[in-house]
Amino acid sequence: MKRVSLLEFKHYRYFKVSGFLMAAAIAAYILDRPEPEPFGGTVLGYILGIASALIVVFLLLYGIRKRLTPRIPVLNKNVEHESASQRTTSTRAAPHQNEGRYGGFTLQGWLSSHVYLGGSLIVLATLHTGFQFGVNVHTLSYFLMFLVICSGFYGTYVYLYLPRLVTENMGEDTLESILLKIKDFDRFAEKRALQFSDEIIELVALSRQKTRIGGNFFQQLSGRQKNCPTTLAVQKLQGLGKGYSDDKLKSFHDLYGIMAHKETAVARARKDVKYKARLDFWLYFHAPLSIAFLVALVAHIAAIFFYW
Ligand code: HEM
Ligand code: HEM
Repeated sequence: MKRVSLLEFKHYRYFKVSGFLMAAAIAAYILDRPEPEPFGGTVLGYILGIASALIVVFLLLYGIRKRLTPRIPVLNKNVEHESASQRTTSTRAAPHQNEGRYGGFTLQGWLSSHVYLGGSLIVLATLHTGFQFGVNVHTLSYFLMFLVICSGFYGTYVYLYLPRLVTENMGEDTLESILLKIKDFDRFAEKRALQFSDEIIELVALSRQKTRIGGNFFQQLSGRQKNCPTTLAVQKLQGLGKGYSDDKLKSFHDLYGIMAHKETAVARARKDVKYKARLDFWLYFHAPLSIAFLVALVAHIAAIFFYW
């Protein structure tokens, strides 16, 4: 059965709700004839401001709901790769894949309403301002809201498209199974290398000891290792096979094949770690920015009542 995406949830229920809210706000704004001009302090301005603030409260509640909702098992657990000696990323299922229920709704339903109602703020809050902007705390709150919404759109894109890329990259494998394969390649390669020169033994040993998968957050996000010892070993081996007799040449080709397979496996593991890091990365902006926005919004409302 085709999985319904968070955007299509319940036949686009929240798309319709937010579409209705935006259409009603635009119609009211066009029909309203306030004196001297539209701004946040007219009757319609107050209605749109309060509606926007209520939506913001609802959006913030999503963070609490998310934590109260039971989680489905993580896609991949923390794993350590012996030769990497650094932790790979902790990964999780995208929330829209979470069927966990809270208060009779799926988390997917909450997220669907979050995305559409959050998007509707662009229209509601903008019409609330009557397009009056200045260098003040009011406009700061609007600007922060805009940043939160932009990061939200990016996050939705990431949640919708990255899981497909993860599957394409991994196929039937998991990160754990690939790390095990890499371990096996290391073992086979080190055994094979023993019959060759010190230089070859050293290349293979360095590849085992210094190849990193994961690392700190930025290394995870880049999905690369500068001067990767495995890539280096594969490149250098290409020039070192000359002059071997038939038997040894066959063995050398085997060794080269193992290292080339290891390079491919390392690239796949790094890609997986990179995708999972990207699933997490944007939330480091979205969640704190939403709190900064809340603070600015409270200051905006306080300032309005203070100068009343
Ligand atoms: C998402 C929520 C909100 C945002 C982003 C927002 C943003 C803004 C912005 C940018 C302005 C224009 C400031 C200027 O003229 O320089 C404004 C004006 C105003 N806002 Fe809000 N606002 C929000 C919610 C509210 C709420 C809940 C209230 C009241 C309870 C409110 C009351 C007002 C009033 C009275 C003005 C007119 C101020 C004036 O021009 O003197 N706003 N708002
Ligand atoms: C002013 C508007 C918004 C506020 C205040 C807000 C606030 C939040 C908060 C507090 C969370 C929970 C973060 C956490 O617990 O880690 C969250 C998550 C999320 N938001 Fe927003 N948000 C807003 C707008 C949007 C918009 C417009 C979108 C999409 C178009 C969006 C997409 C998301 C997504 C996809 C998550 C899921 C995070 C997860 O469950 O892992 N948000 N948002």
